[in-house]
Amino acid sequence: MKNTRGIILAGGSGSRLFPLTSIYSKQLLAVYDKPMIYYPLSTLMLSGVRELLIISTPEMLKWYRLLFKDGKHLGLDIKYAEQKEPKGIAEALIIGKDFIKKDNVMLILGDNIFYGDFTEMRKAKEKNENATIFAYYVKDPERYGIIEFDGKDNAKNIIEKPKNHVSNYAVVGLYIYDSDSPRIAMSLNPSKRGELEISDLNNVYLKRRELQVVKLGRGFAWLDTGTPESLLDASNFIGTIESRQSLKVGCIEEISLRMGFLPYSKYKKLVLGYPDSEYKNYLMNIMRDIKIKEDI
Ligand code: DAU
Repeated sequence: MKNTRGIILAGGSGSRLFPLTSIYSKQLLAVYDKPMIYYPLSTLMLSGVRELLIISTPEMLKWYRLLFKDGKHLGLDIKYAEQKEPKGIAEALIIGKDFIKKDNVMLILGDNIFYGDFTEMRKAKEKNENATIFAYYVKDPERYGIIEFDGKDNAKNIIEKPKNHVSNYAVVGLYIYDSDSPRIAMSLNPSKRGELEISDLNNVYLKRRELQVVKLGRGFAWLDTGTPESLLDASNFIGTIESRQSLKVGCIEEISLRMGFLPYSKYKKLVLGYPDSEYKNYLMNIMRDIKIKEDI
């Protein structure tokens, strides 16, 4: 099985959220009790990815470095790279070319929040040969990259923000590619909006019959954070789940421990160093749970 590295694309101007984003990166805004980027990072971690590249604007990169450092304290290896201008999602693969090397890559958008059972993603990561995308049924297909299917439910085209209805299956902002993807991204022409479109790249794989489409089931939540309303909805969703279960969503320290990325001793040292907070109390309780299990 090939190694899979992860890229989180956290650039862009976040203009639709102005003035929230007038001096600050969208992907660092709060979603309930943690920065937005914790959620896509946790999606990659739960899929078993530990070597990561975070891409953001030259102005904002320093905040991400401050937040995650080299990732070692989380049992991760995190590198950083600049995207000078928002020239398209597919450009992340060009920027990440030397990072990807000969491995597979799982690319996620820094504002995409997933909630549910990550078995599908882990399986897809393990099975991926060339390219894998995930489809999710939405009510507003004109806002996304949309998959057109033939009569046998095979994907036949991907259309970016279609004006006419082709299907309700949107391509979510999580993609798995082989090491050929940077080369394909380099061969793309910019679209009318001046971007290297991820849908164009997916269509190249599709035409070569090298694209797998995995439909995410109804038990899965894919949340939008593009407008003030949807940002608030995402916060309320996470808040509701967390208070009902008293378990956190997207808690990267807990995931590190449970995935075996961090040994118990390092987790304990990390958590004890945190400022007194509800978050620290939660992480301490997890520690107690795990310790009790170890003692039994
Ligand atoms: O969310 C899924 C959708 O993401 C897909 O269904 C579409 O196929 C895909 O094109 C994309 O749609 P949007 O056009 O809505 O993406 P947007 O321009 O809002 O960018 C998504 C995120 O990626 C956003 O947080 C900013 C970041 N980004 C975007 C571009 C174009 C970058 O960091 N750099 C970029 O160059």
